[in-house]
Amino acid sequence: MHANWALYCDNYLEGFHIPFVHEDLNSILDYGSYKTEVYEYCNLQIGYTDEATEVFNLPEDHIDYGKNVSAYYYWVFPNMMFNFYPWGLSINVVKPLDINRTKVSFISYVYDPSKLNEGAGSALEKVEREDEFVVENVQKGVRSSFYKAGRFSPTREQGVHHFHTLISKFLNI
Ligand SMILES: [Fe+2]
Repeated sequence: MHANWALYCDNYLEGFHIPFVHEDLNSILDYGSYKTEVYEYCNLQIGYTDEATEVFNLPEDHIDYGKNVSAYYYWVFPNMMFNFYPWGLSINVVKPLDINRTKVSFISYVYDPSKLNEGAGSALEKVEREDEFVVENVQKGVRSSFYKAGRFSPTREQGVHHFHTLISKFLNI
């Protein structure tokens, strides 16, 4: 991808863009209840669904029992993503090639093939292309002399803020 690796992570870490970039995924996820939980070196985004689509069959003692969870998106600092769907696990490994080129590797572990084409974990290739398209355009945008960093959204960008805080901590800036 022709973009900086951190922009790929930024994009992954916020659900803000879902209604604007991922039309199909947005019809599955309940944007209003999309949630981010921040831990020390990782964070979790939970995608709930508003329809009777494919969801996790969670045991009674699970913290999310009774909720319609269609995806758990775990990000581990600085460059790994573990995406859990009812069909299994998809891992993204983000490798910087140079300042504006990035290689993303995808590794899938299928637990239940019958659910592969259902819910938030379906059509991942399309969602990925949609993300790459916007991230490459963000790369152009941040290089523009008109670009100025804005504030983080406290409700939609906790994950991006977490990432940037960790980056500045590790770079001592
Ligand atoms: Fe996306």
